[in-house]
Amino acid sequence: MLDTRLNMIYDLIPQSGLICDIGADHCKLAIHAVKQGKTKYALATDLRRGPLEASARNVSANSLSDRIRLLQSDGFLNIPADIFDHTDCFVIAGMGGQVIQGILEGRHTDKWLVLQPMNAVYELCEYLADAGYDIKKRVFCTDGHRIYTAFLCRYDGISRTADYFKGAVRNKYFYMYLEKELKRIDAALAGIGLARSPDTAQKQNLEQLREIIIRERENES
Ligand SMILES: C[S@@+](CC[C@H](N)C(=O)[O-])C[C@H]1O[C@@H](n2cnc3c(N)ncnc32)[C@H](O)[C@@H]1O
Repeated sequence: MLDTRLNMIYDLIPQSGLICDIGADHCKLAIHAVKQGKTKYALATDLRRGPLEASARNVSANSLSDRIRLLQSDGFLNIPADIFDHTDCFVIAGMGGQVIQGILEGRHTDKWLVLQPMNAVYELCEYLADAGYDIKKRVFCTDGHRIYTAFLCRYDGISRTADYFKGAVRNKYFYMYLEKELKRIDAALAGIGLARSPDTAQKQNLEQLREIIIRERENES
């Protein structure tokens, strides 16, 4: 069983022959995807040895060593070219938006991308738009007090202006996300308002973002 966040990520993965989970940690996602028949094979990578050892135990306990390969790699770096080319979908989840961006900058791919940033979400949206990745779908979920978002994207080479909520599934989690974002922005603006020398550029950015969120919220039926 996956937790709510991993389940949201799992649901975004298209039917595949081979998926590659970058920064797989425990390998739960890849194991679930293979067991459920969403993919025939998986490559699960991690930067660190410890998570790979935990992954190896989990893969072996599920008797999936012939279907899931493990690899130590910083982002795409050590992934062999033939595996990279045959991958249908790369998953990069549970990391900061800047780390995800750094991984994407490391090697060009036009395969499906499932991305789940833990922070710097707007910055990642801007990078994706500028670098020619189209956001096909964006989803939200809550787990306890936390609210998460994930993206399904694909490279089309068209550099565009970032549309922060492109592809968003406008359900109750989306509107909960907007409310939480509004609170965060209002708190940040209040902090700037108290500063002796306020950061006017940051204030302007936050005010623009606030307007976008208010407009999105008005669409709630
Ligand atoms: C918080 S865990 C998330 C695990 C899993 N993807 C998930 O969403 O539950 C982040 C994992 O990414 C790995 N990681 C961080 N930077 C990485 C990189 N550049 N390349 C590969 N793995 C990385 C970490 O070692 C860690 O195991």
